[in-house]
This record gives sequence, structure tokens and C-alpha cells, in this order.
Amino acid sequence: MRYPAYGLLQTDGSRVSEFTYEGYRIFPGKKRLKALPAVYVEDEGEAETLEIFLRDSVINTRLILSYTIFRDFPVICRNALFSHEGEEPVVLENAMSLSIDLPDSDYDMVTLTGAWARERYIKIHPLHEGVQTVYSMRGHSSHQFNPFFALKRHEATEHTGEVIGFSLIYSGNFIGQVNVDTFAVARAMLGIHPEGFAWTLRKGERFQTPEAVLVFSQDGLNGMSQIFHSLYRKRLARGKWRDLERPVVINSWEAVFMDFTEDKILKIAETAKDLGVEMMVLDDGWFGKRNDDTSSLGDWYPNPDKLPGGIKGLSQKIEKLGMKFGLWIEPEMISKNSGLFRKHPEWLIRVPYREMCHGRNQYVLDFSKDEVVEGIGDAIISVLKDAGVSYIKWDMNRSISEAFSQNRGPEAQGMLFHKYVLGVYRLYERLLEEFPDILFESCASGGARFDPGMMYYAPQCWTSDNTDAIERLRIQYGTSVVYPLSSMGCHVSEAPNQQTFRNTPLKTRADVAYFGCFGYEMDLNALTEDERQEVKEQIRFYKKYRKLIAEGTFYRLISPFEGDEAAWMVVSEDRKTVLAAYYRMRQPSNAPYKRLRLKGLEENARYCMEGKTESWFGDELMNAGMVISDYASGIRSDTTKQGDYQSRIFILKKL
Ligand code: GLA
Repeated sequence: MRYPAYGLLQTDGSRVSEFTYEGYRIFPGKKRLKALPAVYVEDEGEAETLEIFLRDSVINTRLILSYTIFRDFPVICRNALFSHEGEEPVVLENAMSLSIDLPDSDYDMVTLTGAWARERYIKIHPLHEGVQTVYSMRGHSSHQFNPFFALKRHEATEHTGEVIGFSLIYSGNFIGQVNVDTFAVARAMLGIHPEGFAWTLRKGERFQTPEAVLVFSQDGLNGMSQIFHSLYRKRLARGKWRDLERPVVINSWEAVFMDFTEDKILKIAETAKDLGVEMMVLDDGWFGKRNDDTSSLGDWYPNPDKLPGGIKGLSQKIEKLGMKFGLWIEPEMISKNSGLFRKHPEWLIRVPYREMCHGRNQYVLDFSKDEVVEGIGDAIISVLKDAGVSYIKWDMNRSISEAFSQNRGPEAQGMLFHKYVLGVYRLYERLLEEFPDILFESCASGGARFDPGMMYYAPQCWTSDNTDAIERLRIQYGTSVVYPLSSMGCHVSEAPNQQTFRNTPLKTRADVAYFGCFGYEMDLNALTEDERQEVKEQIRFYKKYRKLIAEGTFYRLISPFEGDEAAWMVVSEDRKTVLAAYYRMRQPSNAPYKRLRLKGLEENARYCMEGKTESWFGDELMNAGMVISDYASGIRSDTTKQGDYQSRIFILKKL
């Protein structure tokens, strides 16, 4: 009588099933999920898994519900595995990763919603009777909703009270919903979106759902975020780059777009190197005949007019400067005007005898087909092989429409969206295996695929195409509800900003971008000498604190969604070093005294602010707060700190 957690269509048309208990097993550790990203353990002592075995004896389908609990995290991971042993096939029309009935509905639902250039805004609504959902039916996890929601008690705040967080480790169509019935029971579910989903299971076949993650916090939303941060940073992100300090990059996109020559890129790189930047990333426009967005996606070979020595020629020159080289790709896409389209029109997702919609002049390749994933993989590997590429930005710039797998028959259509995502994961896996030293950054028109599934392959993700510092406050603040700072790509760009035309101080732009994987996205040669010195200092600062920023405990202090200011801080695990940031969007007139109350300090330890001689006890800083009026709200004697869009960073050390 409510939305079910699964649905099985049988050959006679019935959808009734009854899975009954057959047994269970408990074992140390946690299994990897076949072909899907998941939280992992490094030794068996870290976790314990319970598997519950169920069976429908009429159709002879088995169901294993798997629950893992962890030694170090207040987390339950849950997935479901269907395996069909009956003679007659069944069609799985719905298979949630998680379904839980909470005995009451006295919660607020917290979601992350948005659009291009304003991703992951925090929205909070009290639960009410009926169904409230977040979802994507776009083929990627989307700008619109994130595969996440939280239920917090009405009285719970940012730092106090009960919160349950729900997150899905998946990058495709999803639904998260809470169904409140007339007896105030709240059923929370999370999994693949059943719209258009129909997975046929023949005898001997299995279906593995993605993994859902449940987090419990008694320390409010921020407490929940801290659990997600450490779980995803330590036990979802993988590979060499998981624990390494991330390079400071200069990305060519907002500097030159597709209008560049090798010389132009080298000139930017030379200046960047001089300022302390560690990696030059060449963004879109290096392949085929691509000079604007109407052509060449799919033609993965360098344009000799722009890069006479190819990728290798450029990367060698960059490496000679003492920097690393990174490259942008968009492997899932195809332009109508491309050699690939002329050769393989059947590789597109489309209904061949109907109009097809473009998005940014491009079309989506059918990654549900092995030959497409293989073919694109071969092309990308031949570009990267021995080319000296140390970083890849993997983009995905449109949603899937007219979902249809050509020449595959009706059964394949219900499998298209999920198989597409499996194809993306498979290609990631192949590239990671082939190039284990490459650092991957995922991207989808900014942050349309900022999800835990991607984090398993790419430890960082381009947070948003909106690089305006003031807009970024909300975007990064919202993103931090689930995702660690070590996963957020954050760059300083020019002013006025290209998306909002807002003029913000260079200092404020850096003060916001420090709280992520830092870089620049502008023509550094256009800077004045003073600005160059400032940038040099910014990079020096970031290098000094990047480990703390990536690995420290993050606290949101003042929400940019609630007024004209924002603040957050990071404290090291040993609570000896603190980096706090305060941002003020609008200059108040004759402002009252301002105190910023910190979090996570040692109550009885003394802390001293860099550049100051006085010290304060931790409890003083946390309960009374530190006066910041002098610095950020503007005193009349110091006009440089006046005006809108100001920021201030505070460094505190335990004595
Ligand atoms: C997307 C990305 C940008 C940039 C462009 C290139 O919009 O989010 O950062 O790479 O594509 O076309």
C-alpha cells in the first residue's frame, strides 16, 4: 500500500512476490561489489557484515540483503543482491538499495538541490504526510538533486541533535524518498530510479544494487558531515592520490577557452611556474578540429594546428619548466560534426527515426554497449600512452534524452541507463589500471556528477562552473554537507567574474578557493605586478596548509544561506592548528561588534593567533568567541578592509 522496495514482473503478468527468511551469515570485513563503487575496508577488523538470505519459492529468486557496520564510523552500508534460479525469467522493475521504516516522522528533510552554476543549495522542509523525493532521471546524478538526503529532528541544529544521513554511491538515475503514512510511519528509501528501469533476469543471472550509506549523528548536521567526510576520504576514494597532497593547478578554460596555440599555453605555464603553480591543465579544444562547441567530440587525437608536437610535445615542454601536465577529456560524448559520428552513427543514444535533441551541440554515446566503451577506451589510451599526462579532467556536459539503445531490441531498453553507468565505471577502472599514477578529477558541466560513485574513481571533482567567490560560498558550503574538502575542485578566476560579472578582491577569491583542491583558472599574464606577488603569496600559503585543509576536521560556522556573511574552519586532528575563515558579502553600516565562535578546540589549551602575542583558552574561543570586528567588519582607519565581498583568514596555534 506504499511504494515498495522492489518489484518483480513475472511471465504471467503478476507482480506479487514473497521473500521469506532462510538464514544469515556474519563475517568480518566487507565484500567488494561487482562492477560498482563501494566503501571498502583495508583489513577485516575494520568492519563486520551481516547477510540475510531470503527466497521467493514460487519463482525461485533469492535475495541477499547485506549490512556492514564499522569499527571507526557510525555507519551502516547496505545493498541488495537478487539472484534468479527459476526456469521462467522475471523482470526486476524496481530494486532499491535501502528501505527503512522509521517509527515516527518528527523530522525535517534536508536535501541538496540546485541547477547549473548554483549546485547543492541546502533546503530543509519538515516531513509531511505523503511522499517527498529527490531524484534524477537525466542519466547522471545531476545539478538538480544530489543522491543524498538527511532526516534531522526538528530541534537538531548544525551542531546538536539527532540526524540520519542517507547517501547513494551511484552516478546515474536515482530516487531518494520519504513516504509518511497516516500513522506517521516514515519509510525512507534510496536506490536506482525505477522510471524506465526493467532488468530481465534469466536462470543463473544476478542483479546487484548500488550501495547505500546510512550515517547517524548526535552532533547535528555538521556531525553527520564529518562522518561522511572521513568515511568517503579514507574508505571510498582510492589509489595513490587518496592520501597525497594535491597539486596547485592552472586550468586553461577561463583563460583562453578553445582559442589557443601551444605558445599561448606555454606562456601561461611559464608565468604560473614562476608563481609556484605545480600543474598546467589543458582544457577543452585540443582535439580534432574543435574551435567551438559544434564539432569534434569523439575524435580523440590532437589538433596539429594548435599542438604541432601533439600532447607529448606539449607535456614535455611543460615538464621541462618543472611542472606536471594535465588534460581534459569528455569520453562519453560525440558531436554530429566528427569522424566518429560519420563512422558509427549507431553508437549514439537515440531513436533513429525520431528527432534527437542536442545539449550544447552534442550527443551522448551509448555506453551501455561494450564495443563503444572499448572503442572510446582504446582511443583515449592511445592519446595518453607515453604522453606524460599526470592528471585527467573527465567531463560530461549534457543529460541523456531520447534514451534508446539502437539495434538492441526491447529488452535492452530497460537496462540502458544502468548499463550506461556501469560502462562509465568500467572505463574509469580500465584507465586507472593502465595509468595508476594519474590523478583524476570528475566533472559534468561543473557539478552535475558530484556524487560518491565518482569519488571511488576520481578523488576530486570540479565543484561548479560558477567560480565567483561569493556564489562559491554557498556552493562549497552546501557541497560540504556530504563531501570532504579534499574532493572539491576550487579555482581562483578573473574579476569581474565570467558567470556573474561581479568584482571581488583577489584575496577573497583565494580565501574561498583555499578550502578545496586549489588552483587558478585565468590568464596569469594579465595580472599586474602587485597581483602576481599576491598570487605567489597565496600559493605559498596554500602549500603550507593544504594537508590540514584536506585532512582536518571541518566545521561550518555561519551559513551563507541565512544572511550576508559566512564562516567555516578546519582544525587538525590533534587540535593544535586551526584555520578559520570569515566572509562578509555586504558591508554593514556602523557594524556592531562581531564575535566568531570556533569549534572543536581543546577546552583547556591555550591558543595564539598568528601575528599576535595574546592567547585564549579553547573554551573561551568556543563559547565567548573571538572578536573579529577589527579585521573583517572594517574599522574606519583601514580602508582596504572596507566594502563588500571582504574576507579574513585566522590561523591559530595551540601553545
Ligand atoms: C564544462 C566544464 C568546464 C569546462 C568546459 C569545457 O562546462 O565544467 O570546466 O571544462 O566544460 O567545455
